[in-house]
Amino acid sequence: MCGVVGYVGKNNAIPILINGLSKLEYRGYDSAGVAVFDCGKIKICKTKGRIQNLQDKLFVNPLKGKIGIGHTRWATHGIPSYRNAHPQFSDDSKIAVVHNGIIENYMAIKEELEQKGYNFISETDTESVAHLIDYYYKSGMDILDAVFKTVERIEGSYALGIICRDFPNQLIAARKDSPLVIGIGKEENFIASDMPAILNYTRDVYLIDDNEVALLTADEIKIFDQNKNEIKKEVFKVDWDIEAAEKSGYDHFMLKEIFEQPKVVKENLSRRFKEDDSGVQLDTIKLDKKELLDIGQIYIVACGTAYYAGLVGKYLIERVARIPVNSELASEFRYKQPLIDEKTLVIVVSQSGETADTLAAMRLAKANGARVLGVVNAVGSSIAREADDVLYTLAGPEIAVASTKAFSAQVTAMFLLTLHIAMELDKISHDEFLTIKNEMENLPSLVNNILTKAPVIKRFMQKYINSKNVFYIGRGLDYIVSMEGSLKLKEIAYLHSEPYAAGELKHGPIALIEESTLVIGVVTQEELFEKTVSNIREVKARGAKVLAIAMKGNREIEKYADDVFYIPRTHWMLAPLLANIPQQLFAYYVALGLGNDVDKPRNLAKSVTVE
Ligand code: AGP
Repeated sequence: MCGVVGYVGKNNAIPILINGLSKLEYRGYDSAGVAVFDCGKIKICKTKGRIQNLQDKLFVNPLKGKIGIGHTRWATHGIPSYRNAHPQFSDDSKIAVVHNGIIENYMAIKEELEQKGYNFISETDTESVAHLIDYYYKSGMDILDAVFKTVERIEGSYALGIICRDFPNQLIAARKDSPLVIGIGKEENFIASDMPAILNYTRDVYLIDDNEVALLTADEIKIFDQNKNEIKKEVFKVDWDIEAAEKSGYDHFMLKEIFEQPKVVKENLSRRFKEDDSGVQLDTIKLDKKELLDIGQIYIVACGTAYYAGLVGKYLIERVARIPVNSELASEFRYKQPLIDEKTLVIVVSQSGETADTLAAMRLAKANGARVLGVVNAVGSSIAREADDVLYTLAGPEIAVASTKAFSAQVTAMFLLTLHIAMELDKISHDEFLTIKNEMENLPSLVNNILTKAPVIKRFMQKYINSKNVFYIGRGLDYIVSMEGSLKLKEIAYLHSEPYAAGELKHGPIALIEESTLVIGVVTQEELFEKTVSNIREVKARGAKVLAIAMKGNREIEKYADDVFYIPRTHWMLAPLLANIPQQLFAYYVALGLGNDVDKPRNLAKSVTVE
């Protein structure tokens, strides 16, 4: 996510803005910038890359001013570049804006303003905000009213910091669905996306709420509701230390990212269904019927967790869209001399967009003429830049090594891809599409429902933490989910665990089952339920303890499992996303219980950029 900071007060804003941005680096970013009111003008310094680059530029060309805004950008619209870095200016550099969030109707606003003669230089959605404020300001409103009018018009999520050359002592802020706090100082006041940015200066904050607008000067803070009624806020005293604040109060980034999943899934669904409900819109990716019929074969290629998300895609595209899909580990694909050509579509899945094996696999595919679709989280990453098409997974930066929210975002992308292909190839009816679409739009609240039961998972951890060997078993989609569950436990709890096709146990591995074995049985797929239950009974008969993950309402499983975690009912094809949430929490609590470093597990890197 982007980072927003702002300052107005007795001191030079620049060092305060830079310090604030450096405290927000954990949010992940690919460019940075500041703007201050200096000698009658708003002066901007921006850079692609790290904050150090910004400091180097400021060393050569120092800026100073008692009011300013700053930004670290995690690109969502437009690649990381100078032009796309914030602050974004209005046409005559009179108004500067920094923004965290996604303006969903920015294209319509941009077209309207271009017709009014505005000149856009960036690919960002934020620039539309700067020009729209300018438009209303030039229509005769004062700057605060122009901001009110603008936030009334824009749709989507925003945390805004705004300064205007004609009001050199006023810093304006507004928020909706993106975090923003106001720091209360002495003869100085602050805004920031998150507490860490201001804790060096004040621990007294106002927690501004959605649809509120704030006007800050050095000596005064006014907060207004959306009808411009001034509202009084309680001062919130922050007692977190800075490191805790970066995790928004969660003990670990992994837990924070697990709990971000409702928002991440929602973000990945927004604007990805056609307004007339006639199908899916995969951003700028066409992949229409004609293109799909021209494709000879599809490969989905990835590593680790991303590979498992790709397996969900393979299973669903084959099952629902009825076309064959190959799925390969990137580290295998790149050396097997795969039979690919210009009629092959290779879908590479990667959170970081920098995984060496996946990058190499993509380059091999392109060298053989294949078309490459990247399902990527890091905007502007190598895979994102080199793929022919990109479907961004909009999960924001994932700091914890163990992937959680990125997996959910990738699986959501697989759901969308499946539906898109099935609709383009007329493999499902419009009614079936609507049923699945409506169920998908329920997913964020269903994920949230599961997260409220985290204490139940914690109790399972206390009961099973001393298990020496753990099997995750399932059939069909449940088998794929069990692979991801097993990986999580391995990588952060350092427990040997193994995913197994439930129907395969009897062909050897059941010899390993004994009293101390824990078997996690994923049984969400009702058509396979009886079969998997028989496998659960087989392991029970050999002394295993069984923790089942089942769909709510399926009480039958309680006859056979020692414990059951129920996920809310949903369409069978969407179950993998929900069934994985308790697995994430189980691995997290077990790792914690064993005293491991949950966010930075031993031997692992967040992005494996070497072979
Ligand atoms: C997942 O928890 C691991 N960190 C790892 O398997 C990861 O998914 C894999 O390295 C792929 O990374 P990528 O998605 O950035 O390409």
